[in-house]
Amino acid sequence: MNDLDALQRDALAAIEAAEHLDDLDEVRVRFTGKRSDLTAIQKGMRDLEPEERKARGQALNAFREAFQAAFDARYEQLQGAALRERLEAERLDLTLPPRRVPPGRPHLLTQVEQEMLDVFIGMGFRVAEGPEAESGSYNFDLLNIEPDHPARQEMDTIYVDGFDDVVLRTHTSPVQSRVMTTSEPPIAVVCPGRTYRADAVDATHSPVFSQIEGLYVAEDVHMAHLRGTLLAFARAMFGADREIRLRPSFFPFTEPSAEVDVSFDGPGGNHGWLEILGAGMVDPNVLTFCGIDPDRYSGFAFGIGIERVAMLRHQVRDIRELFEADARFLARF
Ligand code: DAH
Repeated sequence: MNDLDALQRDALAAIEAAEHLDDLDEVRVRFTGKRSDLTAIQKGMRDLEPEERKARGQALNAFREAFQAAFDARYEQLQGAALRERLEAERLDLTLPPRRVPPGRPHLLTQVEQEMLDVFIGMGFRVAEGPEAESGSYNFDLLNIEPDHPARQEMDTIYVDGFDDVVLRTHTSPVQSRVMTTSEPPIAVVCPGRTYRADAVDATHSPVFSQIEGLYVAEDVHMAHLRGTLLAFARAMFGADREIRLRPSFFPFTEPSAEVDVSFDGPGGNHGWLEILGAGMVDPNVLTFCGIDPDRYSGFAFGIGIERVAMLRHQVRDIRELFEADARFLARF
C-alpha cells in the first residue's frame, strides 16, 4: 500500500503546486495518464490473489477519488484566477467621456430638393432623371431653341471637349424631351438635377446649380392647371397664406410663357413679390418634335431653381454658402 500512499502524497502536492490550468493538465497526465504509475499499478492487478486484488482495488478507488477531489478544487481556483486575470487585462474605464460624434444629416440643398419633390409626388407626379452631359439636340433643338437663338449664348453653355455636340446641360428641360420621346400621355414628371452655366461666381450666381423641371401633358390641359399646381406648391413650401402671380415672359419651349412670383410679408409690414420660377404651356413644336400630337394633347412645364427656393426659405443671402461647406453654416440646418 505504501506505493499508493506515496503516490497520493506526490499527486496532491503536485496539484497544489500547479499555478496555471496548463500545469494542472500536466499533473493529470503525469499521475493518471497511459504512462503513469497508476496505470502500471492497475495493470499489475491481474497478477494478484483475489483477496489482495480486492483490497488493492479499494485503495485504488480511494486514490482516484482523492485525486479527483483535489483536482476539481484546484481547477476551480485556477479557473477563477484566470478569469480575474483576463477581466483585469480587458478592463475598460467606463468613466472616460466618449468622443462626441455629431450626427450627420443631409445638406440643406438635399433637404429642400426632397421637400419640393415630396410636394409634387403628393400631387401625382413621378420623378424622372436625365444625364448631366447632354446632347445639344436634347438641351436645345428638341426644346425649340434654334442654333442661332440668343438663348444659346444667354445660357453661357459649357461644351464638352472632344465630343461633337455634347454640353453640360444648361437646364433640366432636356429631361422633358427625353420623357416625352419615350412615353405616352398622360405624363406627369418632375426632374431634379444639376445644371451648368459658364457664369462668374457671385452672391447670386454659381456655374453649378440645380433645378427641378416639371411637366404635365394630357388632354385638355390649360393654364389654370399650371396656376393651380404652382399655387399649391408655393403654399406647401412657403406658407398657406401665400399668393402667386404670373408675369408674361418668353421661353422658346413654352407658349405662352410666364415668370412666377410668390408673395411675401417681410418685417415691418413689407409686402412684395419674389420670382421663384419660369413656366408656360408646352410649345406645340416641342410636342411635335417628341412625337406627341399637339392637336390632341397639351401640357404645361416649369423649371425651378432649388438654390433659389432654399435661399428664400432660409434667408440665405449668398449662394456660395450653399457650396462652401462651412461647418458653421451647415450646422444651422
Ligand atoms: N429652362 C428654364 C431655365 O433654365 C426654366 C424653365 C422655364 C423651364 C419655363 C420650363 C419652362 O419648363 O416652361 O431658365
